[in-house]
Amino acid sequence: MSPSPQTVTTLTLGTPLSPSAVRVMLLGSGELGKEVLIALQRLGVETIAVDRYANAPGQQVAHHARTITMSDPAQLRALIEAEKPHLVVPEIEAIATPLLEEMEAAGQVRVIPTARAARLTMDREGIRRLAAETLGLPTSPYQFCDSLAELQAAIDGVDGQPGIGYPCVVKPVMSSSGKGQSKIDGPADVQTAWEYAMAGGRVSHGRVIVEGFIDFDYEITQLTVRAAGRGAQLGEVVTHFCEPIGHKQVSGDYVESWQPYPMHPEALRKSREISKAVTDNLGGQGLFGVELFVKGEQVWFSEVSPRPHDTGLVTLSTQVQSEFELHARAILGLPVDTSLRSVGASAVIYGGVDAQDVTFDGVAEALSEPGTDIRLFGKPESFVKRRMGVALATADDVDAARAKARSAAAKVVVKTPMPQRKG
Ligand SMILES: Nc1ncnc2c1ncn2[C@@H]1O[C@H](COP(=O)(O)OP(=O)(O)OP(=O)(O)O)[C@@H](O)[C@H]1O
Ligand SMILES: [Mg+2]
Repeated sequence: MSPSPQTVTTLTLGTPLSPSAVRVMLLGSGELGKEVLIALQRLGVETIAVDRYANAPGQQVAHHARTITMSDPAQLRALIEAEKPHLVVPEIEAIATPLLEEMEAAGQVRVIPTARAARLTMDREGIRRLAAETLGLPTSPYQFCDSLAELQAAIDGVDGQPGIGYPCVVKPVMSSSGKGQSKIDGPADVQTAWEYAMAGGRVSHGRVIVEGFIDFDYEITQLTVRAAGRGAQLGEVVTHFCEPIGHKQVSGDYVESWQPYPMHPEALRKSREISKAVTDNLGGQGLFGVELFVKGEQVWFSEVSPRPHDTGLVTLSTQVQSEFELHARAILGLPVDTSLRSVGASAVIYGGVDAQDVTFDGVAEALSEPGTDIRLFGKPESFVKRRMGVALATADDVDAARAKARSAAAKVVVKTPMPQRKG
């Protein structure tokens, strides 16, 4: 017996900057938040863009911009109490999620998808234990360690119990975009990996996850949307799936993605079964990016974002509704359309320079090829490895789309107009 369906909460849309407005607060206003904000604006939602620094991409397109330290519960509480948004939408992981849980439990705020989902996915431990231990989903073998000695013991095994072994991957429990993450091929790498993780985590206390290395054929993002159904299911939360997205990661950061990824039907079925299990448990309304590793017909759960996923930037050119429009509609309680419009690809445009006030050469050249598009995120400061924009392409097949997106991205060159500041 499946549990009875969850009733969808649909907000009555109103007029921005008026008493009837639906007010939505984004916690984190980077390039992904910016697109969610634009999608909300198109439905007449009043938006509040919050970030840790001024002029973040999303703040440039929102009705209101606020700059606070979102991991500080006092600052976050004060802001939510002052703004009284109908919905609080986390866009990053580094947020005071226990405070959100407390305020949600007290009926002071509705968090997307739920405050519990935001807490469980803010570090690797909560979500891994939920997926592997509570839900019994297939994952890499793993252990959590608080010291170099514990890490070594986890790899070697203790008291005759087998360890994780080599090769394995070490990641700070609190980190994203591959920061502090490295692969260990043998005993000589363990100490370096530990020190690298200690330097790369988001908070100073040193907890890591060590995972067995999965020799996958490929990895995908399964965008999964919990949104209103259609017809007889209009009042219910229904799970909708996008076509799988393939992607290439370099040092834990996505550089290219494409859609659809042609999968073995059994691998696709398992991917969706895993995605449904984890998103059913996290609950609420919204879009999730479920990361999965695939080898033949075998599928492993890796992690999940309860929000749009960076590899899903490709959907700006491939889907009838991008992942950002899907998220906006899902959270407002509206039906969604996850269908594919065209085969396509995305390629990241990195800063390549450490500078402020940069300019972009080659944009016209990049757009001269039919079926290409770009987004420049408007970040006030460029870093060599910072994502400053993305090239998008559509084509008849994935290989052609990937080649086009890569070529367009390569044509865009980030330039420093002023002599570089020292210091
Ligand atoms: N156990 C593993 N076996 C093989 N490859 C792995 C494993 N864990 C991670 N990877 C590789 O490293 C990439 C980044 O890992 P993961 O998604 O856990 O880190 P992240 O810092 O959260 O990255 P992001 O924020 O970009 O999603 C994965 O997409 C995959 O390519
Ligand atoms: Mg990841």
